[in-house]
Amino acid sequence: MQRENFTSRFGVLMAMAGSAIGLGNMWRFPYMVGEYGGAAFIIIYILCVFLLSLPILLCEFIIGRRSQKNAFGAFKKLAPGTAWKWAGLISLVAPLIIVSYYSVIGGWSIEYFFKACTFGFTDYVTHEELNTMFNDLVSSVWIPIFGHTFFLLITALIVMGGVKGGIERFGKIMMPILFVVVVLIAVRAMTLDGASEGIAYLFKPDFSKLNAEVCAAALGQSFFSLSLGCGTMLTYASYVNKSENIAKSSVSIAVSDLIFALIAGCAIMPAVFAFGLNPQEGPGLVFKTLPFIFSQMPLGSLVAILFFMALLIAALTSSISLFEVGVAYLVEEKGMNRKKSCMLIFMITWITGIFCSLSFGPLSDFKIIGNTIFDFFDKLSANFLMTIGSFIVVMFAGWKMKKSDVMDEFTNGGTIKGNVKSFNFIWFLIRWVAPLTIILIFLSNLFL
Ligand code: PFF
Repeated sequence: MQRENFTSRFGVLMAMAGSAIGLGNMWRFPYMVGEYGGAAFIIIYILCVFLLSLPILLCEFIIGRRSQKNAFGAFKKLAPGTAWKWAGLISLVAPLIIVSYYSVIGGWSIEYFFKACTFGFTDYVTHEELNTMFNDLVSSVWIPIFGHTFFLLITALIVMGGVKGGIERFGKIMMPILFVVVVLIAVRAMTLDGASEGIAYLFKPDFSKLNAEVCAAALGQSFFSLSLGCGTMLTYASYVNKSENIAKSSVSIAVSDLIFALIAGCAIMPAVFAFGLNPQEGPGLVFKTLPFIFSQMPLGSLVAILFFMALLIAALTSSISLFEVGVAYLVEEKGMNRKKSCMLIFMITWITGIFCSLSFGPLSDFKIIGNTIFDFFDKLSANFLMTIGSFIVVMFAGWKMKKSDVMDEFTNGGTIKGNVKSFNFIWFLIRWVAPLTIILIFLSNLFL
């Protein structure tokens, strides 16, 4: 059977940027900036993106496009008959784990979107009331499970539509809308009285706040945000045309992801400061602090609708990419059809997601190594599996593949002169800088 491919350069970029830009940018990045001290964290984050995450993204591009296979089959095809065939195992597990908790937050976003559409936030007057509303929502049983189910169902239906008709089409329509909406919200936030303090918080570094923990957090966030180490980008790259300049595409994806995170920061922090609220709210920032701001600011109801719509779109384009990893595996390695594969992945992640959702309520006392199920899934994937997955990918491209093959893929057979020139530098990053830094950060995560 003919393998499907993305049909246009724009489609590739929108699908891959869609995977990268998600809750990580709009929910995780702003609260991490808040927790880890503003601009100093952002500077380290930018360094991580360019020196480390970008080379890893390139490796995923190289392995995916060269093999034209799903994330598990790729290693088998490029290193037949070796133990490297197990390198793809993480891509079978990590995306399922991430989708499970990701779609719980996706479900909350749906709930908040509907609340915003019915002007639900204006009924709450104090910040505490909105805190209670959020806590009541997430700790209840049925509504979050309903949201999670609905979110996962939309994801499954889009992936069922195929690479071209589902994933690419959805990305091409939704990503530009997402961008415009978030820019509009940022402009609104930055023109509030008292917004300048928030802008200074984002862009004026205080280096006394830097330490190993901040660096490790920035690195983990850059992996998460670029969807690295769990087979997503590798799978998408396998649908990329042989004529595409993968260096250019990776840079475009990394830069748009970064810019998007910064714009999301500009949409949130100035408003937080303008209303004299605490930027260190943690994961509740988007769901507790923002609705309060929306309930207070001029045009707030409209901004709330736009914000939660954007959050939902961003989450969907990412969960689609996670879903596709498993579907591509089942279709290519197990010979299942796309529809059945989608249904199977849906069933697995629906059930595990229900446990994640209940871990805010009835199962909150059930702990795995001291964490609730949701936190355990989050930490296991972001701090552990994605790091190991990224390590495997760079080791494979840098030490297992032939240098000439990597160069061939990177330069499209030597036809892209700019890439030929920069190859030695990239090769050095892939072979030495990336693996050594990952080991360092991994160890510091374990022992600090
Ligand atoms: N990059 C997504 C975000 O920032 O929300 C999350 C994600 C998607 C992580 C896909 C991993 C992945 F494979």
